[in-house]
Amino acid sequence: MYLRNAWYVAAMAHEVGRTPLARLIAETPIVLYRTEAGGAVALHDLCIHRKAPLSLGRVAGDAIVCGYHGFTYDGTGACIRIPGQDHIPARARVRAYPVVERWGWLWLWLGDPAAADAALIPGFDWLDLPGWVANTGHLHLATHYQLAVDNLLDLSHETFLHARTIGNAAVAEAPITTHEADGIVHVRRIMKDVPPPPLFVKTTGSSANIDRYQLIEYLAPCYVRLEVRGLPVGSNDPNSGLRWWVLNALAPETARTTNYYWGLSRNFAIEDTAMTAALQKAVELTFSEDVAMLEAQQAAIERDAGRTRQIDARLDGGTVLARKRLAALIAAEARA
Ligand code: FES
Ligand SMILES: [Fe+2]
Repeated sequence: MYLRNAWYVAAMAHEVGRTPLARLIAETPIVLYRTEAGGAVALHDLCIHRKAPLSLGRVAGDAIVCGYHGFTYDGTGACIRIPGQDHIPARARVRAYPVVERWGWLWLWLGDPAAADAALIPGFDWLDLPGWVANTGHLHLATHYQLAVDNLLDLSHETFLHARTIGNAAVAEAPITTHEADGIVHVRRIMKDVPPPPLFVKTTGSSANIDRYQLIEYLAPCYVRLEVRGLPVGSNDPNSGLRWWVLNALAPETARTTNYYWGLSRNFAIEDTAMTAALQKAVELTFSEDVAMLEAQQAAIERDAGRTRQIDARLDGGTVLARKRLAALIAAEARA
């Protein structure tokens, strides 16, 4: 059901400290904390004594003490103390998960630790690339993560759902092209000589027509990189107008809930803190529209319980390709 040999965003780095933080990733309970030196630790959030969540305990030095009867585990998951006895059985340990801190986010490898290769973390470099400035956020969604991935791969919804910010008539009518290369699903929508949507007008101060680009990449299992350009009509220079990357990690929590970590990084007016604040608001407003629709969609799908047959349209080209790619990876993992 979930791809296990994959990196998932477990938290934003600043969320993890000396107080245990519980997160569910693909229905796997994880407790996160930091050692005294500041390193991040991720352990299975289940005490091997009587299965209390370790996240209800406390951090002591570099170890975590179960809040129920005091079994204590070090950062590798080894039990180092059992109150009332000296002998600690060798099998007394919880699983430790590889974690990498990168671009302000904490990435966790859920599968076979021997296969954890940091080079497989999807490139979200723009989150802290020199010359760029990023807005970021974390949302909890009551929806399956694939619905949220679909949402980002099919931006025709901007026209109908986001008329206040990034939607206008030009988007939904413009055709997309899709292809898969090196395991990445590409979805492109290029709109030449079209009116800018309200947020572009507000950001650039110009309502002149633009060439608008939406260049989307899906990386399994749950990553969408979206390059947005709003360039002067006819310009071939990607940096000649508005340009930003929307970087999305949709970490599955359960079959009906998702942790959504997002970033929006731009390479213009990077010193303009008022613009950064305005963009934060605009993204939060836009995403609140997505959240309301996605959660209503999830509820409607559950209520329908498979009774109604849905119809694919031309604009689903990207979502269909992405779902195929993920299904193939999950099937291959199940076979292995
Ligand atoms: S359940 Fe953790 S020490 Fe008993
Ligand atoms: Fe949206």
